[in-house]
Amino acid sequence: MRTAICPGSFDPVTNGHMDIIRRASVLFDKIIVLVSRNAEKYTLFTAEERCELIRRVTGDIPNIEIDLFDGLTVDYARSKNACALVKGLRAISDFEYEFQMAMTNKLLCPEIETIFLITSGDYMYLSSSIVKEMAQFDVDISQFVPPVICEDIKQRIMNKEK
Ligand code: PNS
Repeated sequence: MRTAICPGSFDPVTNGHMDIIRRASVLFDKIIVLVSRNAEKYTLFTAEERCELIRRVTGDIPNIEIDLFDGLTVDYARSKNACALVKGLRAISDFEYEFQMAMTNKLLCPEIETIFLITSGDYMYLSSSIVKEMAQFDVDISQFVPPVICEDIKQRIMNKEK
């Protein structure tokens, strides 16, 4: 049984994340999408809400679990006997940060590999931050995120602005 962890903030989950999650799900027996609480970062949605949004849009993936964690990703991965962390790599600008994280995780836990999937061309410049900014300016975000969560994002942004 080969398990991989797809860690991230997912604030909110985008079509780019979905692309990586789906592709990882065919490479491993089980994948766990791990939502980081990011206590030090401002987030639009709570970790529980971010999990719920992911759950809503991944119902058709049979070998997936969604969880949240506020410790080290490698500690969580170890506790689940996972063999890999799967991350998406977009433009070159992602590389330095991801490389640093992968090196640190390797140092902390040499038996767990970080695997990068190159983002599909359509999502090369897509990020949760861009989605939030577009929603703020009332741009149609259904091209960036799964349509069933568009309204949740718009509503949250509108309520935040009040
Ligand atoms: O979607 P993001 O914000 O790029 O995800 C970053 C995340 C959550 C994967 C990363 O910050 C993380 O793993 N945080 C948990 C703490 C940890 O394990 N840090 C060590 C990595 S250097």
